[in-house]
Amino acid sequence: MGERGILISFEGPDGAGKTSVLKVILERLKPVLGDRLLVTREPGGNNNPLAESIRDMLLSSDYPELDDRTEVLLFAAARRQHLVQTILPALADGKIVISDRYLDSSIAYQGGGREIGVEKVMSVNEFATEGVVPDYTIYFDVKPEVGIQRINSTRTNEINRLDQAEIAFHKRVSNAYLDLVAADPGRFRLINAEINFDSVVEETWQEVKTILQL
Ligand code: TYD
Repeated sequence: MGERGILISFEGPDGAGKTSVLKVILERLKPVLGDRLLVTREPGGNNNPLAESIRDMLLSSDYPELDDRTEVLLFAAARRQHLVQTILPALADGKIVISDRYLDSSIAYQGGGREIGVEKVMSVNEFATEGVVPDYTIYFDVKPEVGIQRINSTRTNEINRLDQAEIAFHKRVSNAYLDLVAADPGRFRLINAEINFDSVVEETWQEVKTILQL
């Protein structure tokens, strides 16, 4: 057995540009890392039909009856399957695993956003992950107002449709994330996601290069 790989998660509130930045970073990493790179995401996961089915359920608009605690459990169930079937085998293989969202999303969105409470969501996720935390987490920091504005401007025909409850939700998500960042400065790398896209990409690339010693 070789060396254990490295798990890096990308996190941030909606409208932070995380997924677009990640796309550029991956294009740069692929030629360097080749087969050593495994890219995955949550909810769901690379080559993980079961976790992807749970994703479909969670992101579908067919179930407006979805209860907040059921939501926590479904995210945690998808995460468990993602961890054992996708992440852990890749790490055992010495791979660099990059996940678009992981554990912190549940703490921020369900714990903070849905107001279930950080402690309760942590304990469900402790059961699901058995304490597997990313080695590094790149956090895309954007003030809720800016994130919301970006979401609005990409949904042109829905401008002004975000109501006060939705804005308050985004603020709670963002605050919960910032508490996580403050509590674990060794794991988090904070990226200012309010500057222009190319600069966010370069800042992220520098952090990734440092982490991977490229
Ligand atoms: P997705 O379309 O993948 O959005 P993004 O590009 O922002 O990652 O949808 C993921 C959504 O699910 C996003 O709004 C965050 C939310 N989410 C949770 O609420 N809890 C979780 O544990 C995870 C992983 C995601």
